[in-house]
Amino acid sequence: MYQSYYGFTEMPFHITPDPKFLYLSTTHLEALQHLRYGVTEKKGFIVLIGEVGCGKTTLCRKFMNELDPAHYDSALVLNPRVNETQMLEAILTELGEPPTAAQSQNDLVGLMNKLLLDRIAQGREIVLIIDEAQNLSFEVFEQVRLLSNLETDKHKLLQIVLMGQTELKDRLAAEELRQLRQRILVHYELRPFTREEMDRYIQHRLTVSGGMGRPYFTPWALRHLFKTSRGIPRIINNLCDKALLSSFIRDSDEVNYWDARRATRDLARLTD
Ligand SMILES: Nc1ncnc2c1ncn2[C@@H]1O[C@H](COP(=O)(O)OP(=O)(O)OP(=O)(O)O)[C@@H](O)[C@H]1O
Ligand SMILES: [Mg+2]
Repeated sequence: MYQSYYGFTEMPFHITPDPKFLYLSTTHLEALQHLRYGVTEKKGFIVLIGEVGCGKTTLCRKFMNELDPAHYDSALVLNPRVNETQMLEAILTELGEPPTAAQSQNDLVGLMNKLLLDRIAQGREIVLIIDEAQNLSFEVFEQVRLLSNLETDKHKLLQIVLMGQTELKDRLAAEELRQLRQRILVHYELRPFTREEMDRYIQHRLTVSGGMGRPYFTPWALRHLFKTSRGIPRIINNLCDKALLSSFIRDSDEVNYWDARRATRDLARLTD
C-alpha cells in the first residue's frame, strides 16, 4: 500500500514499542537518564510514570538494551496481574532459573534470596523492571518491597524499576504502600511532546523508515495533528498512519490538512 508508494522500507508509524524508532525528546532523554542514574547509583526503587501511550515501554526496551550483559542480569515483568507466587516465579524465570516444581511462597522467597546472593557474589548486578505496575495488587507490591530488603551498608543489591500509567501515582500514594513509598529515591514523570517535538518526531520516524523526503506534512496538517493528539506518541502514530493512507489514496506527495482531518474522523469512529 502506501509503504512502497512512498518508498519506505518499513511502516513508519507502527504502534509496537520498537526502540529502533526512539526519538529522544527532552522528556524521553530525562526519563532515560533517571533510569541510568538510579541503576548505576544503586538507588533501589525507581519510578517512571507517564500517560497511556507516552513511550514508557519503548524507553524500557531501550534501557534494557543498554544494560551490559557482562555485568547486569535483568528481569522484565510485563504482565503484573499476578499473585505473589506467580510474581516470584516470573522473576526467577526471567533470571534464568525457573522453579522446577510447584513451590510455596516461602520456598520461592528462599530461592530468590539465594539466587540474588549468589549472583551478587559473582559480581553481577541485578535489575528488575516491572511494566504496567499500576496493575500490581498491594500484596504483590509488598512482596516486591521485601525483595528490595537485600542491601549492604551503602547500596541496594537489587534495583527495581516500576513503570506505569498515572494511576500508579495514586496507588503509590495509598496508606498501604507508605513503606515502599519512602524508598523511592528516583522518580520521573514523562510528559507528552511539545508541538516542535511532535514535528521532529514525525520527521524522525519517516527518516528511520527509509523515507527520502516524501511525503511532506504541511504545517496545517501538523497543527491539526498536534491539536487532536495532544502530543501523545501513540495517538500521533495512529493519526499519521491514517493520514498517510489518505494522501496515498489522493496520489499525492503532500499530507495536507484534509488528510489529517480524515485521520481524526476515522480514529474517532473507532473509539466511539
Ligand atoms: N520517544 C519516542 N520515540 C519513538 N517512538 C515513540 C516514542 N514515544 C512513544 N513512541 C511510540 O508510541 C507508541 C506507544 O509507546 P509505548 O507503547 O512505549 O507507550 P506506553 O507509555 O508504554 O503506553 P501504555 O501506557 O499503553 O503502556 C509506540 O509505537 C512507540 O514506539
Ligand atoms: Mg506500555
